[in-house]
Amino acid sequence: MIVLAREVFLCKCSTDVPSDRSGDAESSRVRFVSGAARHLELLDPALHDADRVDEFRARLARGEYWLVGLVGDEIATYTWLHTRPRCEYPYLPGCAFALPDDYGYGYDAWTLPARRGGGLRRAAFVEELRVLSALGKAWEASFFVHYQLEGAARSLARACVKVVPLWRVALDRRGPGRRHVVAERLVTDGGGARPEFPITPTAG
Ligand SMILES: CC(C)(COP(=O)(O)OP(=O)(O)OC[C@H]1O[C@@H](n2cnc3c(N)ncnc32)[C@H](O)[C@@H]1OP(=O)(O)O)[C@@H](O)C(=O)NCCC(=O)NCCS
Repeated sequence: MIVLAREVFLCKCSTDVPSDRSGDAESSRVRFVSGAARHLELLDPALHDADRVDEFRARLARGEYWLVGLVGDEIATYTWLHTRPRCEYPYLPGCAFALPDDYGYGYDAWTLPARRGGGLRRAAFVEELRVLSALGKAWEASFFVHYQLEGAARSLARACVKVVPLWRVALDRRGPGRRHVVAERLVTDGGGARPEFPITPTAG
């Protein structure tokens, strides 16, 4: 379930989204709720082991927003949101950004394998933008791994969501023993997001 990548893009999406959904047949049956501890029991243990569920419980205890998409009583898709001023991509050690006040952060999106490709993630993305907007945020920041960015941007464009890549983050492999992350700025001001690690014009 965890996506490991050595190259990711920190992107932003405006939370100012149209009121209608993407209109996919699958997504039209989904009901979004604010996930709570009771919803953890709905997770299939074959897909979410005890450590993972404990981690989710800790996120709820920290006040993070678990956006859960239910089809009937089944958790069909979910995403995590928080509004802390710092976001991290833990699979690239050291990859952390300070975020402006008007940003929220979305991460760890997941759709039940049997329901993938039905537009659920797209619908969830629109919903999470609405949630962040209601929390007073103008932008959602999220990381996209390099091989998902193009497909995700194309998919989300169908729901009128524009994905703006701000920073490319990669492992610096130049020189002996070089293994730290470096960031390459893709827009003039980096969207106001500031990396807590070196910036390079030629990352990778
Ligand atoms: C990525 C994932 C959440 C997509 O869920 P989904 O409900 O199948 O997505 P949808 O049906 O709404 O859309 C499918 C589209 O999503 C695109 N996509 C891929 N990664 C995506 C992402 N991170 N965010 C949004 N869309 C993504 C695909 O390119 C596909 O586009 P296409 O229809 O133009 O080919 C799902 O495959 C999954 O849970 N994967 C494992 C966990 C993961 O990789 N999470 C993302 C990183 S946090």
